[in-house]
Amino acid sequence: MTDKMPDTNIKTEILIHDLKVPISVINAGARSLLERQDTYGPLTEKQIKVLKRIVRNTLATQRLVNDVLELGRSREGVHICSQFTVASLVVGVLVEVFDLADPGVADDIRKAQTYAQLQDVIEKAGVCLNFAQQTWEASVCLDAAKVRQILRNLVTNAFKHRAARVDIRGLIQENRLTLWVKDDGRGIPRSDQQRIFETYFTTGGSIEDAIQSHGLGLAGVMVLLRDMGGELVLDSDSGQGAEFKVVIPLL
Ligand SMILES: Nc1ncnc2c1ncn2[C@@H]1O[C@H](COP(=O)(O)OP(=O)(O)O)[C@@H](O)[C@H]1O
Ligand SMILES: [Mg+2]
Repeated sequence: MTDKMPDTNIKTEILIHDLKVPISVINAGARSLLERQDTYGPLTEKQIKVLKRIVRNTLATQRLVNDVLELGRSREGVHICSQFTVASLVVGVLVEVFDLADPGVADDIRKAQTYAQLQDVIEKAGVCLNFAQQTWEASVCLDAAKVRQILRNLVTNAFKHRAARVDIRGLIQENRLTLWVKDDGRGIPRSDQQRIFETYFTTGGSIEDAIQSHGLGLAGVMVLLRDMGGELVLDSDSGQGAEFKVVIPLL
């Protein structure tokens, strides 16, 4: 072994990177069947439904691949900052989450023209948005992929664990962006509150829980936040729901 050998992390990342091509091929194939029926032949309603599900899931897989690569980039200290609005961040994450959970709502979110229309659409799906106009319209300069990954993980977890509601709140103050994601689910017992941020720790007791949950999302969130100089505060208890607050310094 020499010190020129790539470390295991890099090898894993190359493998993950190489998943991009087959996923794109599956995505392009399904889209061709959907969009070019004149060439490939007509489809039944049921076939269209299945193909749309394939397309949505290839997009979700692409996002997961990008998330893993983003963690690697973060570890290497690479930041790609750009200017984007808080609105575009939140809408983007909601579309990603609903694309898988309820594609009809995702389409309505895409069509919403104003904050009020958006609130209306997602209120029906059990999500409450609370952003002051100034924060909603503010343009921030941050690493968009990292911030999106953080918010998507928190919102996905809240969706998974909620009883009925998810609250998403945001505020820009003193040159910091603060985001709160809250659910009304079973909550996280105090004894687990440190451990949920460790890799491969999951709270559910059953084998099914262990298969469904990898305990990697929050560990990734912590890596990204640390690299951006941010912090996370968890407020929860058994049976009390959970509120995750992230504070990200603006550049
Ligand atoms: N909002 C929440 N309410 C209750 N438990 C949660 C919540 N968010 C995360 N957890 C628990 O923390 C553990 C770690 O979460 P996470 O790192 O996101 O795992 P995964 O990568 O499998 O999504 C999970 O097993 C989950 O049970
Ligand atoms: Mg998760």
